[in-house]
Amino acid sequence: MAALRIFSLLVLTFSLLSVSVTVGGHNITDILAGSSDYSQFNSYLTQTKLADEINSRTTITVLVLNNGAMSALAGKHPLSVIKNALSLLVLLDYYDPQKLHQISKGTTLTTTLYQTTGNAPGNLGFVNVTDLKGGKVGFGSAASGSKLDSSYTKSVKQIPYNISVLEIDAPIIAPGILTAPAPSAAGVNITGLLEKAGCKTFANLLVTSGVIKTYESTVDKGLTVFAPSDEAFKADGVPDLSKLTQAEVVSLLEYHALAEYKPKGSLKTNKDSISTLATNGAGKFDLTTSTSGDEVVLHTGVGPSRVADTVLDATPVAIFTVDNVLLPTELFGKSPSPAPAPEPVSAPAPSPAKSPSPSPADAPSPVAPSPPAPPMDTPEGAPADAPAESESSKAKNAAVHVSAICLLRLRLE
Ligand SMILES: *[C@@H]1O[C@H](CO)[C@@H](O)[C@H](O)[C@H]1NC(C)=O
Ligand SMILES: *[C@@H]1O[C@H](CO)[C@@H](O)[C@H](O)[C@H]1NC(C)=O
Ligand SMILES: *[C@@H]1O[C@H](CO)[C@@H](O)[C@H](O)[C@H]1NC(C)=O
Ligand SMILES: *[C@@H]1O[C@H](CO)[C@@H](O)[C@H](O)[C@H]1NC(C)=O
Repeated sequence: MAALRIFSLLVLTFSLLSVSVTVGGHNITDILAGSSDYSQFNSYLTQTKLADEINSRTTITVLVLNNGAMSALAGKHPLSVIKNALSLLVLLDYYDPQKLHQISKGTTLTTTLYQTTGNAPGNLGFVNVTDLKGGKVGFGSAASGSKLDSSYTKSVKQIPYNISVLEIDAPIIAPGILTAPAPSAAGVNITGLLEKAGCKTFANLLVTSGVIKTYESTVDKGLTVFAPSDEAFKADGVPDLSKLTQAEVVSLLEYHALAEYKPKGSLKTNKDSISTLATNGAGKFDLTTSTSGDEVVLHTGVGPSRVADTVLDATPVAIFTVDNVLLPTELFGKSPSPAPAPEPVSAPAPSPAKSPSPSPADAPSPVAPSPPAPPMDTPEGAPADAPAESESSKAKNAAVHVSAICLLRLRLE
């Protein structure tokens, strides 16, 4: 009996682990492209990258506005404000027309994508759905005193139970959502934000190399920054930057940013290789991504790095912290470049990070006896795969750990 419980627990643990990397398979852009009535709404979903966020989720309902209703928002507000307003129309539950009319007690509050952004104070990220008399269904902000100003008009598309698309006749306006000062991307102090987020080393490098100017020059068009934490620079295997030429330092820093806005949802649905600011005719300097649940991992060809925290997501600027310095193959891969030779790195003495203390710097490579030196001469696949492997075994170890705790609990019961 107990053995059975333990067994099923383990099965559960591992099946939870393998819970899919898969996304719904729906494409909201495609669904709405069928009707020119939604061209404005659809265009804003693309511009704000909300389309990617919607495609990366299942069990959702998108409340769409036709071009007439969209005129209340379109062109009247900064993109980041419109993004918030549209996020409030993405319900994290599945409502088809039938379910709308079967809400228990006739009224409910439902979570929206806006709630998940962290920008929604109080209950402003929730929407009130109420079955009104005469078969009408009203929507409004959950904030107290809000009116149900928006009504269901018709069904657009259902893919049960992944996505339902319903038309409503007016935007749902949460108090303050349109008037709140938009986090101004243009005036954003990138280095200031990076310092506060624990990326001082990276911020200093950007300033001393002048690369911060390159970052700032693309802010209007779009900018995404992957900032390694201060710990990342102290980790084993990070090349000695003082051994790089000035041009190489510039490329390395430019490699940590994209000239486009790619928030988390877009990274999650990305399937292509991504160009960076370092990409030029001579070198690809690109990145690929992989996703596991809510987690995104960047791959350089030399090694993986987890996207850790979102420091800023204000259309068109996104800033993330990453666990490891991103090492492009163009500098650290194939060529026997100025990167430190394997020998001195594996020598016992010089590295302070080798101390037995479990410093956070050791975290990224704890599991496998993975090669300490960064760049091997091997081409793309191998080095990228090896650390990725240890990443996943790390996850498994975590799961085993969890199971062990569960087993302990069972024993105690
Ligand atoms: C619904 O989403 C799941 C993934 O969660 C996917 O496997 C399935 O194919 C989707 N169904 C349809 C009809 O698209
Ligand atoms: C979704 O559909 C649009 C329009 O058909 C297409 O351009 C886009 O690449 C599709 N997105 C994905 C992730 O397949
Ligand atoms: C939704 O709003 C209506 C009208 O303001 C209110 O009567 C109802 O209690 C609200 N529903 C919930 C679940 O708060
Ligand atoms: C940005 O922040 C840094 C650190 O807080 C500060 O030294 C710098 O003066 C700020 N720059 C601007 C333009 O405000």
